[in-house]
Amino acid sequence: MLTARIAVVVSGGGTNLQALIDAQARGELKSGQIALVIADKAGIGAIARAEKAGIDRKVIVRKEEGFEEKVLAALAEHRIDMAVLAGFLGILSADFIARFPGPILNIHPALIPSFCGKGFYGLRVHRAALDCGVKVTGATVHYVNEVPDGGRILLQKAVDVLPGDTPETLQRRVMEEAEWILLPQAAEIVCAQIVREKESNE
Ligand code: GAR
Repeated sequence: MLTARIAVVVSGGGTNLQALIDAQARGELKSGQIALVIADKAGIGAIARAEKAGIDRKVIVRKEEGFEEKVLAALAEHRIDMAVLAGFLGILSADFIARFPGPILNIHPALIPSFCGKGFYGLRVHRAALDCGVKVTGATVHYVNEVPDGGRILLQKAVDVLPGDTPETLQRRVMEEAEWILLPQAAEIVCAQIVREKESNE
């Protein structure tokens, strides 16, 4: 069966990468295969997860010259159909987005358009939600365009904020109740579209 080749781009512990790996193992991500993991620095937890799952991996340091060129080259070399930013903490340029021919998805740990855009990443997002006093937050999977966290929304899921939450407890609940469910679902939806396009071109 035809599948879409996925690259997952990561900056951290990689629990969202793990959710994709597990969904593939359970047969829920059946239209896609994770073909490459790109880590933007050495030594992060996501690399060990990729290694354990036997997935090709590459470290391309974001802080070094030519990061985007090297990522584009790796995506082309591995014939990647779709890129997934799963806890990637950089911002890709409009040039990068124009030059990668496939869709790029991102998972954001809030209900866009709240608590998003430049400077809103990781625990900062949850801290901002708590400071604001919202009673509901959540996660969003969206297409990546030239506006940080501004591309078309694909899936969203709400999560309750509970009394006594800290940024850490809220982050964990948003991951468990939203991110790890939404990201594999979104990946499957887009991979299935890619496969349909490939089949119609055959
Ligand atoms: C996740 O909560 C993800 O949504 C967030 O970083 C965390 C990475 O965790 N991403 C952003 O804030 C992007 N703006 P992980 O490495 O365990 O998947």
